[in-house]
Order: sequence, then C-alpha cells, then structure tokens
Amino acid sequence: MLRVLLLGGTGEARALAALLAGDAGLDVTTSLAGRTPRPQLPAGHVRSGGFGGAEGLARWLREHRTGAVVDATHPFAARISDHAARAARTAGVPLLALRRPGWAEQPGDRWQWAADTAEAAALLPALGRRPFLTTGAGELAAFAALPLHFLARTVTPPPPPLPARCDLITARGPFTHEGERALLRDHRIDVLVTKDSGGPAAKLAAAREAAIPVLIVRRPPPPPGVPAVPTPEAAARWLRAR
Ligand SMILES: NC(=O)c1ccc[n+]([C@@H]2O[C@H](COP(=O)([O-])OP(=O)(O)OC[C@H]3O[C@@H](n4cnc5c(N)ncnc54)[C@H](OP(=O)(O)O)[C@@H]3O)[C@@H](O)[C@H]2O)c1
Repeated sequence: MLRVLLLGGTGEARALAALLAGDAGLDVTTSLAGRTPRPQLPAGHVRSGGFGGAEGLARWLREHRTGAVVDATHPFAARISDHAARAARTAGVPLLALRRPGWAEQPGDRWQWAADTAEAAALLPALGRRPFLTTGAGELAAFAALPLHFLARTVTPPPPPLPARCDLITARGPFTHEGERALLRDHRIDVLVTKDSGGPAAKLAAAREAAIPVLIVRRPPPPPGVPAVPTPEAAARWLRAR
C-alpha cells in the first residue's frame, strides 16, 4: 500500500483524488490550506491547515510514512510548492507537480503581461478606467491606491485595503460565456486583469469578443528540479507506476 499526500486546493487535485479513489494499492490523503469556508471536498482522506513550513511538512511525511507526494496546488501558490520541494528532498520522498498549462494568446486577443501584481498596478492606468479585477482576494491591496472604478470578483471577501471605488462580487466559478459578456457590458469594463491561472476561462473569450485589453500576471517560477505533468490522468499514471 503506497501512502500518498496530495497537496490540493484546485479542481485538478479533486479530479486526481477521484481518479485514485477505490485504487486498492493507494492510500490517498488530500491536504487543504483550510482558508476557504465550505471547501469542495475531494474523495479519500482529507486533512486541513498548514504544516508549519518545510520542516513541519517533512516531519508529517515521515510520521505518516508517506511514499509519494503530488503537489497539485494552484500555480500561484508558490510558498507551499517551495515547501513541498524542500520537504520531499529532506524526507527522501518522490515528488511530482501536477500543473495545469497556462493560457495562450489567440488571434484577436489584446494581452499585456506583467511580472507580478505590483507591475500590473503600475501598467493598469494606461490601459483603462474601469478594470475588472480577477486576481484573487489577497491581491486587491496592490491596486488600492489607484483612482480607477474597479469591479472585483473573488471567491472569499477580500481583506482591506481596497480601492476607494470598488464594486465587489463574491462568487466561485466556473462562469459562462453569456454571464461574462453581460458582466463586461453592464459594468462598462474596459480592461480585464487576471493571473495566468490556466484552465477554462470564459472571461478571456468575452474580453476578446469585446476587444478589451487583458492584463495578465505571469506565474511565479516553479521550484527547480521537480518533474511536472499537465493532467490528473498523467499524475495517476505516475503514482500507479510506483
Ligand atoms: N494562490 C492562488 O491564487 C490560489 C487560487 C486557488 C486556489 N488556491 C489554493 O489555496 C491554497 C492556499 O494558496 P496560497 O496561495 O495562500 O498558498 P501559499 O502562499 O503557497 O501557501 C501559504 C501557506 O499556506 C499553507 N498551505 C498552502 N496550501 C496548503 C495545502 N494544500 N495544504 C496545507 N497547507 C497549505 C502552508 O502553510 P505552512 O507553511 O504552515 O505549511 C503555506 O506555507 C492552496 O492549497 C492553493 O492550491 C490558491
């Protein structure tokens, strides 16, 4: 029986847990950060909350006699990915990253890339007056000083500081093309701001259709030396081969 720790918090992690459920050779525990109220729970065992850094995670791996780790966290969750790489090395446990591909520009897109949210905030005033912010609840503070009229959509209510003029929508995707089109139109959005999260994103197609620019924050670099696969199916094959 191979004990597997699946670092989760994404749809891909839930899909992988579902693929592995019922596999007699694997005992899978998904770990959640524990910050989202009423999270969508995966199949299999679930634990919640931080480990206490890379050292705490290495200790957890040893104590639970873990045989493999899959880091299926969000591409922007850089800290836990770094901890996973260091802890797996310390504990001598094989690690695989499950990372959905980033987005690719298509004909008709007007994309501008930013290295991080600070650079996105610096570039934004030249691109529009009514931005639609979809960079996540933790990232609104970077835009707080800008005198623009924001619409911000987050999964959980964002902590202060917020921009002085900011309409808030709390919602969890997936969103429809019709819904995104209506949102851009009704709020007279003239620029979309997003992170390169990857996965389905009707907002990008709606922005293309409305010919509005999209400001995209690049992914942080993944930890070096960790093998990565793009799909839950490929991660399941890697685990079953062990
Ligand atoms: N960042 C995003 O845009 C985003 C979007 C969608 C979902 N998520 C999910 O939300 C979670 C938190 O994201 P984040 O950006 O705050 O992460 P982060 O900055 O990389 O991690 C911060 C700390 O949270 C704890 N942590 C994070 N993910 C964990 C997990 N799966 N299990 C146990 N502890 C975890 C760790 O605490 P300790 O050091 O104490 O172990 C980590 O040091 C992740 O699981 C991620 O997959 C993130």
